[in-house]
Parts: sequence; C-alpha cells; structure tokens
Amino acid sequence: MKILMVCLGNICRSPLAHGIMAHLVRSENLEWEIDSAGTGDWHVGHAPDHRSVAIAKKYGVDISQQRAQHFTAQLFDKYDLIFVMDRQNLQDVLAQAKNDQDKAKVKLFVDNDIVPDPYFDDALFLPVYEMIEKRCVELIKSIAKS
Ligand code: 4NP
Repeated sequence: MKILMVCLGNICRSPLAHGIMAHLVRSENLEWEIDSAGTGDWHVGHAPDHRSVAIAKKYGVDISQQRAQHFTAQLFDKYDLIFVMDRQNLQDVLAQAKNDQDKAKVKLFVDNDIVPDPYFDDALFLPVYEMIEKRCVELIKSIAKS
C-alpha cells in the first residue's frame, strides 16, 4: 500500500500525518510506503514547521528529516491512496486528476471533516496532532482489513 498525505504547505499537517502513519505502520510490521506533499510550492525542500516537529517529538515521532515536496499530477501514478487535510486541498488535488482512476484515489483524511490549518494558531498544534493520530489508527485498521 502506498499512501500520500497532502496539505497546503507540506510543513504542518501532512508531515504529521506522514510521520505518525509511518511510525504506526512500522510498529505493525506493515510494509506500506508513506509520504507527503503540499499543493503550494512555497516550502519545497524545507523541513517541517518547528511546532509540528516539537509536538511529534513529544509523542516519540521524529519528523525532522522530512523535506517538503510539491504535489504534482505524476504523484497519482505513484500512490494508491491520497489523503487530503481540507476541502481546498481536495479541490486542488482533484483539479490535477488525469482520469477517474486518479480521482478515486483522493479522499478527505477525516471523513466529512477537515483537519484545521494550525499555521497561524499555535494552540491548534496539539488538537491537530491528536486528531491526526486518532485517524491514522482508524485508517490502518480499515485499510489493512480491505
Ligand atoms: P500546512 O500549513 O498546509 O498544514 O503545511 C501551512 C503552512 C504554510 C502556509 C499555509 C499553511 N503558508 O501560507 O505558507
């Protein structure tokens, strides 16, 4: 299974989803490939935001070595599932789909809900972390069963 986590900047939310998912997948001995990307290209090559790095570290997850990449249409061919953090990400990723097969790979990370962007609000990093971790646990169960 190859999974891509997508947000806007690829420095706050999707690096957490990437790091937490990879951490959980390793502990379950699943050989899944996890990565992340951003629909915006401002932070390409940058490490995750220091607040995401810090909250993940607190929970024993090291995301400091990740580097931001830009979401491009070629990534549809590389991944089985593409999870987006909010509805703008959904719209931006779907706009690049080449066909229905690409479109079918794209899902909101949290069903019918969004992961709020914590970039301009320090207080959001903890609830965002908790929300992402809870959802990663659920996703591993549901994907491993399918
Ligand atoms: P992310 O958060 O999409 O969770 O990585 C953001 C990071 C950077 C910006 C916006 C959102 N920005 O405008 O630079």
